Amino acid sequence: MSNVVIVGTQWGDEGKGKIVDFFTSNADAVVRFQGGNNAGHTLVVDGKKTILHLIPSGVLHPKKVCVIGNGVVVDPKVLLQEIQALKKAGYLKKPDTLRISNLAHVILPYHQSIDLLREAAKGDAKIGTTGRGIGPCYEDKVARRGVRIADFVDPDIFAERLKTLLPERNAYIAQVLKGKPFDADALLKEYLPLAKAIRPYVDDVGDLLQTWVRKDWKLLFEGAQGTSLDVDHGTYPYVTSSNTVAGYASCGSGLGPTQIDQVVGIAKAYTTRVGSGPFPTELEDKTGEYLREKGGEFGSTTGRPRRCGWLDLVVIRHAMRANGLTSLVLTKLDVLSGLKKIRICTAYRLGSKVLKTVPATVEDLQEVKPIYEEVPGWSEDLTGVTRWKQMPKFAKKYVEKVEKLLDLPMTSVSVGPSRQQHIVLKNPFKK
Ligand code: GDP
Ligand code: IMO
Ligand code: MG
Repeated sequence: MSNVVIVGTQWGDEGKGKIVDFFTSNADAVVRFQGGNNAGHTLVVDGKKTILHLIPSGVLHPKKVCVIGNGVVVDPKVLLQEIQALKKAGYLKKPDTLRISNLAHVILPYHQSIDLLREAAKGDAKIGTTGRGIGPCYEDKVARRGVRIADFVDPDIFAERLKTLLPERNAYIAQVLKGKPFDADALLKEYLPLAKAIRPYVDDVGDLLQTWVRKDWKLLFEGAQGTSLDVDHGTYPYVTSSNTVAGYASCGSGLGPTQIDQVVGIAKAYTTRVGSGPFPTELEDKTGEYLREKGGEFGSTTGRPRRCGWLDLVVIRHAMRANGLTSLVLTKLDVLSGLKKIRICTAYRLGSKVLKTVPATVEDLQEVKPIYEEVPGWSEDLTGVTRWKQMPKFAKKYVEKVEKLLDLPMTSVSVGPSRQQHIVLKNPFKK
């Protein structure tokens, strides 16, 4: 058995999609277990760029099955657009290569409306959400007023659910948020054909996964967002509305935790964050600008410029603990080429105290000053490096330093966006 979970260790956009695509060749199925189309996972294969928001990053491997677990929130419009685009590109030829949990919750237009109206009302205090209705959909799930895929694809149940849910949601939209309420009949008319189109993909995913495990299939679980965006373990309230940590691979797929063998964390060789909230190692200077330009740090989902800063090992250590990481992948090492000196944050100073862990309140996290170790940079271009032996001396030292400071083995190092630009040191699927 070798079932592997891949998670982001920072604030998302670590390069999870690229790494999942790479390791899919070792797996039989790839499973998304949380988040929704707030995610933007970029794959570059044979020079062609594909950005996925909902469908697992294994989809460019035609023989593998992609699975959307119960922990994901599914926007039917986005899902169908993504399916169409992939079909046009020659993928997802048969519905049985994509399975969607009947227990996943559905994002409906009022969720997105609530998300956008709330953010607009907050002004400068906004979270900086992706505006996709993710938070309001998860709220409805926990409040027991959600619509699940199983409800959605049954026209009678869907109509009944809308009839009972919508008056309350509409009152909230109109009275509290001063927005435009939704008409149940119009919504039903628009969404019933979408439900019909989704029906062939719907399955009892938990049961399916168990069947596959019994057949000794290898499963790859694909996390979205990152640990510092986790609703429990992130920089609350500047977080997303799901648990992004590896433990949720179980809850969000319906397969128990004893089935998981390895947890691989993805870390960018520096740090980025999109949206509001504290970011101790942020660089609001020329170096930050250099990283943003060289790293192409603009959101894959919203196009917003990402905030950039030095690698923060307090954040990664936090992710090591919260996910139980068994190894790490360091991505975008090539972006650091050309910097004379590189800084690594090893701890924070808060007043007279030295902190090795992330403080609980954003008020404290906003106040901390990073404590850095400075290491030499390198000028060589890394994008053509294919073997560890060829890695320039100071780039190698940087990776080894991170590995040593964390006391965590390195799975691989990524040196460019393409599938090939990836040097594997230890494959998590192989003993
Ligand atoms: P994800 O959300 O974690 O899947 O990451 P995103 O796709 O949102 O953002 C990562 C960006 O970096 C994408 O544009 C990738 O194509 C790109 N990328 C991934 N790995 C590397 C790498 O090693 N070097 C460079 N230069 N770009 C990379
Ligand atoms: P991937 O999977 C980076 C951020 C948003 C915002 C906060 C809440 O591509 O790494 P939400 O719309 O989820 O309610 O927004 O979370 N966020 C992400 N940042 N990468 C992501 O996904 C993100 N998904 C959400 O910018 O700060
Ligand atoms: Mg992304």
